[in-house]
Amino acid sequence: MESINRVNMKRILIIGASGMLGQRCAKFYSESGNARVLCASIDETIRFPNAEYVLFDMTKHGEVKELITGFKPDVIINASAYTNVDLSETERDLAWSINVKGVEYIAEFAAIAGAHFIHISTDYVFDGAKGPYSEIDTPSPINYYGQTKLDSEQAVRLSGAISTIVRTNVLYGIIPSGRLDFVRWVVESLRAQKQIRIVTDQYNNPTFIDDLVSGIDAIIRNKNYGLYNLSGIELLNRYDFTLRIAKVFDLNTSNVIPIITPDLNQPAPRPLRGGLIIKKAQAELGFCPIGLDESLQLMKKELNL
Ligand SMILES: NC(=O)c1ccc[n+]([C@@H]2O[C@H](COP(=O)([O-])OP(=O)(O)OC[C@H]3O[C@@H](n4cnc5c(N)ncnc54)[C@H](OP(=O)(O)O)[C@@H]3O)[C@@H](O)[C@H]2O)c1
Repeated sequence: MESINRVNMKRILIIGASGMLGQRCAKFYSESGNARVLCASIDETIRFPNAEYVLFDMTKHGEVKELITGFKPDVIINASAYTNVDLSETERDLAWSINVKGVEYIAEFAAIAGAHFIHISTDYVFDGAKGPYSEIDTPSPINYYGQTKLDSEQAVRLSGAISTIVRTNVLYGIIPSGRLDFVRWVVESLRAQKQIRIVTDQYNNPTFIDDLVSGIDAIIRNKNYGLYNLSGIELLNRYDFTLRIAKVFDLNTSNVIPIITPDLNQPAPRPLRGGLIIKKAQAELGFCPIGLDESLQLMKKELNL
C-alpha cells in the first residue's frame, strides 16, 4: 500500500531549496503527505525529513538535464536566483547565467518532461514610476537584476513548457537558516541598539512567504497557467514597514533614521513606486494573504523572537 501511494504521489522538484522561499516550499510539501519532494540546491541547507536532497548547479546544462530527466517531476518550482540587486550591476555574467541561462535550461527540460514549471519573478521588472502594477502593465526594468528577471520570464514563455510565472516582492517570513530577511534584520539590529537608516520613498507590498507558498500551491492544484502577482495586502514604504515591525516586537524606534534612496548611493537604481496588484490572484486562485501585523505576530511566536 505504501509503495502504491508513493507511485501516485505528485512529484515536486524544488530548485533553490536553500533560499528563503525554497526552504519554506520544501517544508510545506515535505509535510503535506501527498507529494514526493526532491530539493535541489547549489549548497547544503537545512533538510526536512520527508524530502530528498541533491546538490546541483542550474548554470550547467548537463546537470539540469540529469536532474529533471532523472526525477521526472510533475511540477518544478524554481525558487533559485541571483538575488543580490547591487552586485548584479557588476557581476553581470554571473547574474545572467543564473537568472536567464539557468532558467532557460530548466524550462527546456520542463517542456520535455511535460512538467508544470512555476517560475518566480519580481516587481523589479517595472521602473517604479507608478506602481503598484497589475499583470497587464508593461515592464521596463531600471537595473540589471530586473532586466535578468524580465529576460527569464521571456525564456520561460518561449520554451513551450506548461508554465506559470509568479511575480512577488519583498519576501519576509519564518526562515530557519540562511540570510536574514528584512524583518529579522530590523529586529536584531534594534535589539542590539544599532542605528538603522531606512528609506521613506520606496513603496511595495511586502509578502509573507507562507502566503506566497499558499498561492503557489493553489496554482499547482488548480493548474493555473500564465502570469500571476502574489504579494501582501498592504502597500507601504520601507520606513513605515520598519515602524510596524518595531511596534509588534516592542522595540524602541529612536534608532530608526528616515532617509531617502539617493542617500544610500547604491550601485543599482531602485524602482520607488513598486508593488503589485493582486486582484487577479484573489479572484482566480482565492489568494488571501493575512494582514501585516498578524504575519509579524506569527513570526514573533514561531521564531521565539
Ligand atoms: N527576496 C525577495 O525579497 C524577493 C522579491 C521579489 C522576488 N524574489 C524572487 O523570489 C525568488 C526566491 O527569492 P529568495 O529571496 O528566496 O532567494 P534567495 O534566498 O537568494 O535564494 C536563492 C537560491 O538560489 C540558489 N542558487 C543560486 N545560484 C544557483 C545555481 N547556480 N544553481 C542552483 N541554485 C542556485 C541559492 O543558493 P545559495 O544560497 O547557496 O547561493 C539559493 O538557494 C527569486 O526568484 C527571486 O528573484 C525575491
